[in-house]
Amino acid sequence: MPVVLNRHQGKVAIVTGAGQGIGLGVALRLAEEGANVVIAEYNAEKAQAAAESCSHFTRALAYPVDIGETDQIEQMVRDVVATFGRIDLLVNNAGVLETLPLFDLTPEKWDWLQRVNQRGLFFCLQAVAKQMVAQVPESVKAAGKADRSYGKIVNFSSIAGRSGRPYAAHYSAAKWAVISITQSAAGYLAPYNINVNAVCPGVVPTPMWDEIDRVQAERFGLEPGGWIKKTIDSVPLKRAATPADLAAAVSFLLSEDADYITGQTLNVDGGVEMN
Ligand SMILES: NC(=O)c1ccc[n+]([C@@H]2O[C@H](COP(=O)([O-])OP(=O)(O)OC[C@H]3O[C@@H](n4cnc5c(N)ncnc54)[C@H](O)[C@@H]3O)[C@@H](O)[C@H]2O)c1
Repeated sequence: MPVVLNRHQGKVAIVTGAGQGIGLGVALRLAEEGANVVIAEYNAEKAQAAAESCSHFTRALAYPVDIGETDQIEQMVRDVVATFGRIDLLVNNAGVLETLPLFDLTPEKWDWLQRVNQRGLFFCLQAVAKQMVAQVPESVKAAGKADRSYGKIVNFSSIAGRSGRPYAAHYSAAKWAVISITQSAAGYLAPYNINVNAVCPGVVPTPMWDEIDRVQAERFGLEPGGWIKKTIDSVPLKRAATPADLAAAVSFLLSEDADYITGQTLNVDGGVEMN
């Protein structure tokens, strides 16, 4: 059982895509550690159910939003500030994936994926970071150096952002972009002491993986479950990750324990990538 600390007491956290899978695990962990959580999720029913689960620990708000729409993101930031007074933490977790052979990747499929995984992630970061900077006192801004952390952001990349995947060229491109967005934002926001880091999950059985397995197993003539089994067999630690494994890493990066870490990308993948 993971050790649950109390590191986010009273903080206000937005977690995108927190209606299921890894994002739900992250939201629950932050709530357990005392943060007020905003479930920023496309699917309104899942957002509501996730917020109800988190509300056993803390104050939780279901916020149905499409992060591909910048006006919705900006409205969300205004509404969260109106409800909670400020924003301290952002987890940019929402993502989509459809595996496709290289030659079947159309401009429409390309744009569909980048709209969420790259563009949506960037504009969530931009809107929330603007709010975090607005929360920094003018005297601190004038000094050009902050006395304490004024916000923390974690972006979801993937091991597919560390090396290109043959059946997910669009996804790998987006997840590589997430690493560069993380570095650009970390540099820009460093004078405000706002930390920006990324995580790269490996294999985490979630609804996203159910679909990958269904399509890839059929493509390669395997039984259902065959593709994910083959993938897990190649993990050095010989097991899949759980959402809780990712949540533990994210919670650490959002905590004071990670005050001196920024611009980094952490593989949480059982040893698949060792860079
Ligand atoms: N599962 C894995 O093995 C794995 C591996 C590497 C990286 N990742 C990344 O981790 C993140 C979470 O993955 P997951 O497996 O939990 O995925 P998932 O598909 O199970 O959940 C993603 C959630 O994001 C939401 N979402 C999708 N588009 C959205 C939008 N436009 N606006 C708001 N919400 C939206 C979905 O409704 C869903 O609730 C993703 O960024 C994914 O790329 C996952």
